Amino acid sequence: MNKTISITINGELYQQSVPIRMLLVDFIRDVAGLTGTHVACTFEGVCGACTVHLDGEAVKSCLMLAVQADGHRITTVEGLAVDGELSVLQKAFNDHHALQCGFCTSGILMNAAEFLKMNARPTEAEIRSALVGNLCRCTGYAHIVDAIKDAAGRAR
Ligand code: FES
Ligand code: FES
Repeated sequence: MNKTISITINGELYQQSVPIRMLLVDFIRDVAGLTGTHVACTFEGVCGACTVHLDGEAVKSCLMLAVQADGHRITTVEGLAVDGELSVLQKAFNDHHALQCGFCTSGILMNAAEFLKMNARPTEAEIRSALVGNLCRCTGYAHIVDAIKDAAGRAR
C-alpha cells in the first residue's frame, strides 16, 4: 500500500507516493538522493550513522517511517553548510582531523549540532555522554570530542 507524502529536506520539497513501510532513511537516500545520511547497523538504531534533524531535533532516520515525517522539515548533513560555507562544527571537524573513514561522521555532526544548540558550554563529560548513541569504529573519539569542544568555543 502506498501513500503520497510531502517532506521538506534542506529547504526543498519532495512529494512522492511511497510504500507505507518505507523508512525515512530510505526516503532521504533513495527518493531525495541525499546519500550523506548513512546506514551502518542495518536498522537496529544503535550506530547513529543515520541521524538527521526532524523539525530541528536529532532523530535516527532508520527508526522512523517516511510517512511519519509527512509535512515535516528534515535537515541532513548536506544542509549543514550555508551558501557553500562549511558550518563552524564542520570546520572544527576538519581542523581536528575528527574522522578517518568518515562513515559515522554525518550522524555525529547532526547529533553534535543539535547538542551544541542546547548546551553552548559543554564539558568533556557532557560531550562524551551526548555521543553515546553514535558509534565510531576508527577514531577512538578523542579528536571528535576536541572538535566539538572547539566548535562550542568558536560559536560563542
Ligand atoms: S542505521 Fe540508524 S542507528 Fe544505525
Ligand atoms: S571515522 Fe570511521 S567509523 Fe567513525
